[in-house]
Amino acid sequence: MKVLGVDVGGSGIKAAVVDTLTGEMVTERHRIDTPQPATPQAVAETIAALVKHFQWQGPIGCGFPAAIVHGVAKTAANLDKAFIGTDIEALFKSVTGCEVYCVNDADAAGMAEFTQGSGKGKQGTVIFITIGTGLGTAIYTNGTLLPNTELGHVYLPNGKEGEHWASDATRKRKELPWKKWAGRFNDYLQNMEALFWPDLFIFGGGGSKKLDKFQEFLNINTPYVAASLLNEAGIIGAAIYAASELERRSN
Ligand code: BGC
Repeated sequence: MKVLGVDVGGSGIKAAVVDTLTGEMVTERHRIDTPQPATPQAVAETIAALVKHFQWQGPIGCGFPAAIVHGVAKTAANLDKAFIGTDIEALFKSVTGCEVYCVNDADAAGMAEFTQGSGKGKQGTVIFITIGTGLGTAIYTNGTLLPNTELGHVYLPNGKEGEHWASDATRKRKELPWKKWAGRFNDYLQNMEALFWPDLFIFGGGGSKKLDKFQEFLNINTPYVAASLLNEAGIIGAAIYAASELERRSN
């Protein structure tokens, strides 16, 4: 099945058509800056512009940076607070004219990594962390996802909220050298270790592309790997989610 995968981020909204059987993008990726302020209507219109770009008429899978319960956004850490309580599946459907299936962005990226990337076949407790505007998390135990874990918002022993302390956006905003930022990210990882005792971390999101710049500064007990799909995971995973929901909801 072909699905338009959309990845809504704090700085860009990206999309591509994905073949959900092969898990591959069958078009180039197209990106539009996230509108500021990122209100529900403005974000919906940006998704509509992407739909127009691809001349798309089929289903859409949308990874979105919030806890999503039955199509409703429950949080909005890095977008306009008006999203909280908005039925984004209904809104995006009304603006694009397409069926839309929404899922947390880190869960979407995790789905792609566990279907065909670094998480494939991994057993035990695996924490997938996207390093970007926020810190997104997806927890898998023996291949099963626990959805909507908002662990970027866990407070660290130093009193700081995880993603405010150690996101890629914080590194850029504060112009932190890699060593300094890695120390902060290490604080975050050690806290995750103390709370969940994982078997593996997988690092995704834009920040994971720079693993070679910061891995020498990490000091954790848990093995870790970089996500293998990098920038494409969010788009591919959103499309995979839509295909599985289409099937589930039609039964
Ligand atoms: C949001 C999460 C999201 C993460 C990564 C956090 O601020 O609360 O829902 O997965 O950012 O985008």
